[in-house]
Amino acid sequence: MKILMAGAEAFPFYKVGGLGDVLGSLPYALKKLSVDIDVVIPLTRKVEIGDIHGKEDMHSSVGDFVHMWKDKDGVTYHFLAHPSYTNRNEIYKEPDEFELFQIFSVGVASLAKHIGADIVHMNDWHTAFTVVALKYMNIDIKTVLTIHNIAFQGQASPVRLIFFLPEYLWNALRIGTDANILKGGIVLADFVTTVSPSHAKELTTPKYAAPLHECLKKRYEEGTFIGILNGIDTTYWNPLTDPHIWAPYDIEDALESKAVNRRSLRREFGLTDRENAPLLGIVSRLTHQKGIDIFLETADIAVELGFQVVILGTGEDDIEKEVRKAVARLPGDVVFINEYSEKKAHQIYAAATHFMMPSRFEPGGLAAMIAMRYGALPIATRTGGLQDSIIDITENAEGTGFLFEGPHPLPLVKAMLRAYKHFISENYGYNMKVAMEQDFSWDRSAEKYLEVYRYVMR
Ligand code: ADP
Ligand code: GLC
Repeated sequence: MKILMAGAEAFPFYKVGGLGDVLGSLPYALKKLSVDIDVVIPLTRKVEIGDIHGKEDMHSSVGDFVHMWKDKDGVTYHFLAHPSYTNRNEIYKEPDEFELFQIFSVGVASLAKHIGADIVHMNDWHTAFTVVALKYMNIDIKTVLTIHNIAFQGQASPVRLIFFLPEYLWNALRIGTDANILKGGIVLADFVTTVSPSHAKELTTPKYAAPLHECLKKRYEEGTFIGILNGIDTTYWNPLTDPHIWAPYDIEDALESKAVNRRSLRREFGLTDRENAPLLGIVSRLTHQKGIDIFLETADIAVELGFQVVILGTGEDDIEKEVRKAVARLPGDVVFINEYSEKKAHQIYAAATHFMMPSRFEPGGLAAMIAMRYGALPIATRTGGLQDSIIDITENAEGTGFLFEGPHPLPLVKAMLRAYKHFISENYGYNMKVAMEQDFSWDRSAEKYLEVYRYVMR
């Protein structure tokens, strides 16, 4: 059984968020289960491809691609260059991303045939057009679609479709008079998944999935849409071997070493030297989804309670502006690093005592898992993957973080209060260890993906 996993990003070549983490780590867990799996992403200027192991032209119905590939620790990563996007920094958020991701998806379909894949595993709308292209080109290859973020669906006027589709394909895509590529994927794929069981249930409701909840509900009830909880690469995200952090640590010396990391972070990132203050970390895309604006409404109270706050992220202008205002109001206690930085992300996970994730919705939430692995207790909305991976400490002595309803400022403040009281109690060190001991590796979830692959091959 040969799988081609396709997506817009894959760590370490190109990463914007958790999707990149997944395409850079899940394939290795599947390989351990003897699955023959390759990965493909589009080649743009931001992709750090390094040395390649092969290169050829690949013909397709949307013109020639340059197909490059390289082996990384036993998994072959393919890169498809196409004149329509290869000389751009990235495809995301380009005005013609609707067309560009269709073109890339046609390339994925052609590559799947070329390498003899049995299944294409599509991720998000960016590659969901692959199933349409396979059917349009009469290529008989099975498909699985994983939804990481339903906020992006690839919806536009059908005049922007790159093929004139036969009626049955058009009907699969259409929402009113628009074409919706994610919907096409949901309707046409042999199996659909999302990245946590709770989020799968959420996606059957209009609140989370409109206008796609109906078709997701249908597949959920048929048993061909399920949630499989994300995992993380526990070798890469390992506080004991992490080259980016000041003082590496394991469970035994975490309390002291995290304090050392905190001291260094305060100094280097410009926080006032408040030795005993708990540190609230945020590492996030600054989008509406992440609810950082809700936290910012309560930032003064957080500082009043005794927390210091470090925020690493880039994103929407209005949210960045609100973060800057909070820094101006609370200098020395709130700092903002307006960057994407792998190194600083690791440093924050290692130094933070707590990790803030007030997401409006969160399909998986890898950042919370990474935080727990580094002994930073998440304070997070009770939603999606956060609710499936965090155990509330107030409800369970063996807990790993603090969950609140909402996301609303009042429950958030109450959760911070619980967290602060817990921090100054004797239990903090214990729950920090419990959090670090959780198994967030891909092993269990990889078995579930394998079951899905076996199911669609039957
Ligand atoms: P999402 O995929 O919605 O962005 P996740 O929590 O699943 O959310 O994954 C986010 C990933 O992106 C984590 O690996 C996190 O560390 C990383 N990340 C987010 N923002 C930044 C940033 N500014 N710098 C470095 N890493 C970041
Ligand atoms: C998305 C989601 C996030 C998830 C990630 C990887 O970007 O927002 O919750 O963990 O994809 O699946």
